Amino acid sequence: MPRLAYVNGRFVPHSAAAVHVEDRGYQFGDGVYEVVTVVQKRFVDLEGHLDRLNRSLGELRIDWPVARNVLEILMRQLLVRNKVSDGIIYLQITRGVAPRDHKFPKSGTPASLVMTTRRVVHERSPNFRKGVKVITIPDIRWLRCDIKSTSLLPNCLGKQEAFEAEAYEAWQVGEDGNITEGTSSNAWILTPEKELITRAPTSEILNGITRLTIIEIAAQQGIKFVERPFSVAEAKAAEEAFTSSATSFVTPVVQIDDTVLSNEPGPLTINLLNSYRQYIERLEATL
Ligand code: PDD
Repeated sequence: MPRLAYVNGRFVPHSAAAVHVEDRGYQFGDGVYEVVTVVQKRFVDLEGHLDRLNRSLGELRIDWPVARNVLEILMRQLLVRNKVSDGIIYLQITRGVAPRDHKFPKSGTPASLVMTTRRVVHERSPNFRKGVKVITIPDIRWLRCDIKSTSLLPNCLGKQEAFEAEAYEAWQVGEDGNITEGTSSNAWILTPEKELITRAPTSEILNGITRLTIIEIAAQQGIKFVERPFSVAEAKAAEEAFTSSATSFVTPVVQIDDTVLSNEPGPLTINLLNSYRQYIERLEATL
C-alpha cells in the first residue's frame, strides 16, 4: 500500500498527489497551514492547532474547506491509512483555484485542502541530548507573523543560512535589536536572574502551540516567567536558551552565533523538555 496524501476530497498516492497550477497557494502563497505532531498514536495539542488554524483562516477570510470535525476525521484517516503512529501531519488550506488575479476570486470558490504525513520518531533526534547552535539574522518578514501563512520565503532563506552556518535554526532579529523568533520555532532564554523569557504573542511572532503548553508547564512548576522582548546581547549572556515547536519540542540551544552558552543543555531546559514529554505521555491515544 503506497503512502497516501489527501488532496481536495480524495486520498491519492503521495507520489502522484498534485494541485492545479492555478491554485492560489501555488500562484501567490495565498494560504495557511498547520503542523501537528503525533507521538504513540497521540495527537499533540490538536485542539490548539485547529483553534489557531481557525484564527489564521479568519484573518485571511478563507473559508474552512470542510467542517472542523470532518477535518479531524480526515486527519485521523490519513494517519491510520499511512500507519503513522509517530510522526507529523501537515495540512495546507489555500484560497482555492481561480484564474490568476491578485484580488480574491468570486465567492463560492472552494478553498483547497491538502494533507500529507511523515513518519518521525521524535525521540531519536540527538539535538535533545547535545543541544544545538542557532545563528541570528535580520527579520525581513511582513507585519502579520501571527498568521500561519504558507508564504514562507524569508523563513526558507533564513533556514538555509542556518544550514550553511552548520546551525540548527536562525533566530530572527527585529530592527530594534530584539529577537523575534526562529524561522520555524519560538525563541526562549533563561536570564542569570532565573527568569524564563519569551516574546509576547504580538503580530511579530507566531503564537506557538508548543509555546503555550510550555508556558502552562512553567506556571505549574512555579518558574518565574516573563513575556517580553530580549536583545541578542541578552540572549548571548543568558544562562540557558532553547527553541520550541511542534516538531522540535523543547530543543536546547547551547551556542548563539560564536557565543557558546554551555557545553551541554542546561538543567531548566532539560526539566522543561522532560515535563513536555510527560505531558505528551498523559494525552489520550486517539488514533
Ligand atoms: N513551525 N514560529 C514559527 C515561525 C513557526 O513556523 C513555528 C512552527 C513556530 C512554533 O509553533 P508551534 O509550536 O505551534 O509548532 C513558531 C512548524 C513546526 C513548521 O513550519 O514546520
